[in-house]
Amino acid sequence: MLDIKITRTTTPKAKPEKGAPLGFGKIFTDHMFVMDYTEGLGWHDPRVVPFHNLSISPACMVFHYGQEMFEGLKAYVGVDGKIYMFRPDMNAKRTNKTNRRLCIPELPEEDFVQAIQAVVTVDKDWIPADPGTSLYIRPFIIATDEYLGVKPSDTYKFMVILSPSGAYYASGINPVGIWIEDEYVRAVKGGMGFAKTGGNYACSLAGQVKAHDDGYSQVLWLDGVERKYIEEVGAMNIFFKIDGKIVTPELSGSILPGVTRDSVINLCKSWGMEVEERRISIDEVAEAHKNGKLEEVFGTGTAAVISPVGKLRWKDDVMVINNDKIGEVSQKIYDTVTGIQLGKLEDKFGWRFLVCEK
Ligand code: COI
Repeated sequence: MLDIKITRTTTPKAKPEKGAPLGFGKIFTDHMFVMDYTEGLGWHDPRVVPFHNLSISPACMVFHYGQEMFEGLKAYVGVDGKIYMFRPDMNAKRTNKTNRRLCIPELPEEDFVQAIQAVVTVDKDWIPADPGTSLYIRPFIIATDEYLGVKPSDTYKFMVILSPSGAYYASGINPVGIWIEDEYVRAVKGGMGFAKTGGNYACSLAGQVKAHDDGYSQVLWLDGVERKYIEEVGAMNIFFKIDGKIVTPELSGSILPGVTRDSVINLCKSWGMEVEERRISIDEVAEAHKNGKLEEVFGTGTAAVISPVGKLRWKDDVMVINNDKIGEVSQKIYDTVTGIQLGKLEDKFGWRFLVCEK
């Protein structure tokens, strides 16, 4: 159990007006959580402090070799007025999977959750309550040794910042267009594709720029070896409904094990739907589209929640899915996931985590 010191700001910022458009990840609250790691001492000095700019050496290792990790989760005002998060234990577990891959010291899972709970509680009045909004939580760790040799750092900072946010995509729950990338790849097995680390996102940018230039919102990545099997979208996992069945790429080591992905698989199975986690090729998707069997495509992610895909661009072809409209299953999943998050629906799986009473 962490002994967290809390220092409150004496100059609180103006909060966004109710109903004001928030965008995603643009506004930050009054406080942040910080904890340091020193080799030999472990994680120490957990504290909630006013949100501030960092003053660190330009020689810090994170700036040179990218030894860093991050997570993403959300807090909501439930229909009972209390504050909840969704499955923070999953983010805590994934943090340590990422840390092991990047030689970052592990964080006890309960400390990760306690740290977030502490800062969210201090800034609970920042949590927006308009439909489709939430408090996006960004925990992250950076390597802070001042050293230009390539090795794991001996010192780190774990921080948590908070951003009242609306939908990740400007289009909200309306279908997005996705560009299937055939030049660049995101990850290979044995690499760090499963880890939540900035490098995976940095290497996705060149593809994303191409996609944006062509009017598409995101990139769908194919496997890095055969460029044939579907992996994930930049900020989401991907699901297909083909001939009544739900199909999603298996966790092969090169895709992110999404919390929303896992929740959607569990929900669909609980509804008696057939769910297959397996390799799925772009040719199979194109064939299913040609035969009228590609019924729905949707992405899942913490930031994006459920994002229907209306168009898939593959080389010179554009597959239009479900007339570019949200499908029945995508809508049902969206309503159920957000319904559980907000406490409108029964939480059969025990996914909601009480942060604090309002
Ligand atoms: C999330 O869904 O929380 C993510 O981390 C995706 C992100 C890159 C916005």
